[in-house]
Amino acid sequence: MRHPEPRLRILAKSLELTERRIFHAFTGRLLLQQSSLRQVGYDHLLSGPRRHEFCWLPSELRWLCRQTRPLLHLHLASFLCFTAGSLLALLTPLVLKWLIDQVIPQRQTGLLALAVFLVFLGYQGKTTLTSFGSYLMLAAAQRMGLRLRMSLLQHLDTLSADYYEDTPVGTVVYPFREPIDEISYFGSDLLPAVLRMFLTTGFTIATMLTLSPALTAAILPLVPAFLVARQHFRRRLTVDSDQVQIDRASWSEFLEEHLSSVIPIQLLGQQKRQERRAFQRLAQSLRSQQRLFRSGLRLTVFSSFAVILSMCTVIGYGGVEVLAGTLSVGSLVAFYSFIVQLFEPLSGAAELYTRAQKTCASIRQLQFAFRLTPSVVNAVMTATISPPAQIDFVDVEFGYPRQKNMLRIPTLRIGAGEKVALVGDNGAGKSTVAKLIARVYDVDGGAICIGGNNIRSLELQSLRRSVCYLPRDPVLFDGTLASNLHFVKPSASHDELNEAMRSAGVSDFAATFPEGIYQRVGPGACQLSGGQRQRLALARALLQRPSILILDEATSCLDLSSERVLIGNLQVSLPQSTLIVISHRLSTLESCTRVLVLRQGRIVADGIPDSFIKAHDQFFRTCAPAPGGNPETLRDLSL
Ligand SMILES: Nc1ncnc2c1ncn2[C@@H]1O[C@H](COP(=O)(O)OP(=O)(O)OP(=O)(O)O)[C@@H](O)[C@H]1O
Ligand SMILES: [Mg+2]
Repeated sequence: MRHPEPRLRILAKSLELTERRIFHAFTGRLLLQQSSLRQVGYDHLLSGPRRHEFCWLPSELRWLCRQTRPLLHLHLASFLCFTAGSLLALLTPLVLKWLIDQVIPQRQTGLLALAVFLVFLGYQGKTTLTSFGSYLMLAAAQRMGLRLRMSLLQHLDTLSADYYEDTPVGTVVYPFREPIDEISYFGSDLLPAVLRMFLTTGFTIATMLTLSPALTAAILPLVPAFLVARQHFRRRLTVDSDQVQIDRASWSEFLEEHLSSVIPIQLLGQQKRQERRAFQRLAQSLRSQQRLFRSGLRLTVFSSFAVILSMCTVIGYGGVEVLAGTLSVGSLVAFYSFIVQLFEPLSGAAELYTRAQKTCASIRQLQFAFRLTPSVVNAVMTATISPPAQIDFVDVEFGYPRQKNMLRIPTLRIGAGEKVALVGDNGAGKSTVAKLIARVYDVDGGAICIGGNNIRSLELQSLRRSVCYLPRDPVLFDGTLASNLHFVKPSASHDELNEAMRSAGVSDFAATFPEGIYQRVGPGACQLSGGQRQRLALARALLQRPSILILDEATSCLDLSSERVLIGNLQVSLPQSTLIVISHRLSTLESCTRVLVLRQGRIVADGIPDSFIKAHDQFFRTCAPAPGGNPETLRDLSL
């Protein structure tokens, strides 16, 4: 995803403000445009009071209901279990009333045994049914978590390099953890809990009305008062929940970065500083969790206040009625039990509400991730590129957000099967050119064509199968040498594997390993040397048999003679493929048929290697020599 205003996101994070504070800061002081806020995912703050505050169901919960729809059968089954359990529990006070008013006064032992049995059945039945309902709910939550995680992963897989280059891994990974768990557990709980709440509340009120309409009329006004006053806590809970999410994400981001660089941090002797930073983030996270807990507590205290007030009303007013002889003792006891039954779902609703706020914050975070769109959009055309492939740059312009028009190539043709070296200073734009060909980024203006087709009109997967971009630090996986090779071509035969390994020089070092090509290489292949990693990546590229192979300093760790042999092998293995070699080494030029020199994003020289150095001697003279640098580098030519 391209963030035209990535600064905003960083600003929003670094300010460590709540969303609402950010809203005031942005709209009130910085006067930022609405579109900018939309791009950073804070657009829901723009409408002032949230729309959903006046809706029966917030938009986040409507989204949640849509997610739970495929698992409706499990939700309904668990609802039935919970409801049956609750109804059994609701019948118990009526049994008590019967026991007190009729069975005990008549001294009927048989009926007493029946009452005991019914009470046992009520409580045991409730426990059994609710346990089974919980099991079904858990199953639904787990399935929902799985679906959400897979959907998010599939979505993130479509995003482009600019998103990943701008977002710390911790931030990318965070929604997969607590937020999805929270959403799935709450999502599975929501429907049964809400249905149960309505059903039990309705049943309780109806039974209370039949027992004593006057006493019920004294209690019922407390219910809407309870619900209205609860709204007071709503806004505070929302803000606090969002802050908890922001702080947790910030901690996760820090942890991810820290743990992936423990050894470099040790080498720099900065453990204490990192620990202080960790402590600050943890303390901040703790403070926001405590704030949220306090807000939740206020709500709970208020809820229990309403329950206690109702109980006192029942005892006082009901007691007066019993003394006056208008209410039986059994009815009073049953009524008292029903008060708990009435407010239990309402208190449960309050608790559900606190959880809903947390979940809404998680949903907003997930929605933000789902709203991201790739800046490199896939095309539907499925034209394939077959070697030899010619590359054309036509009026190409490209720039990064902080460096507009960094690259401009009005016209350039790399012939089919040509072997081209791309050279230039650090930051000249060589890797950018390579990434544009592989469509890691899209050009801002003009077009890049391969085999006469604009690469924007080619299907991305087919383009990337045909164009292999190999960077200096290749991405390898924790597995064996063989599994890393099979990654691009699982169907590769043993012979194909051997051929690729021989050409890239992997066989030489694989033979020294106790387990040969089945030797584990560690996370990121860290148990291999730099040169071995590059060779393994080259072998993998050979297996892919691309039409265009771009080596972006992909042989920089190899010694000069090995590099020469390896590039020679590549040309033999892929005779028809177009080869672009980016290098700072003079020796690399010899392996190519053409040299392009890039400087500050412009092609300043284009020639053949033999006459190249002499013809462009002046160019190299203008480059400052690298003090004590490798005498084989292009820079040192001016010495
Ligand atoms: N992801 C990015 N976001 C923003 N700017 C970038 C990004 N990648 C590169 N740049 C900038 O673009 C310019 C060209 O970078 P590029 O990596 O293409 O240079 P290069 O010629 O490959 O350099 P080197 O020889 O050091 O690898 C540099 O100024 C760099 O700072
Ligand atoms: Mg580079």
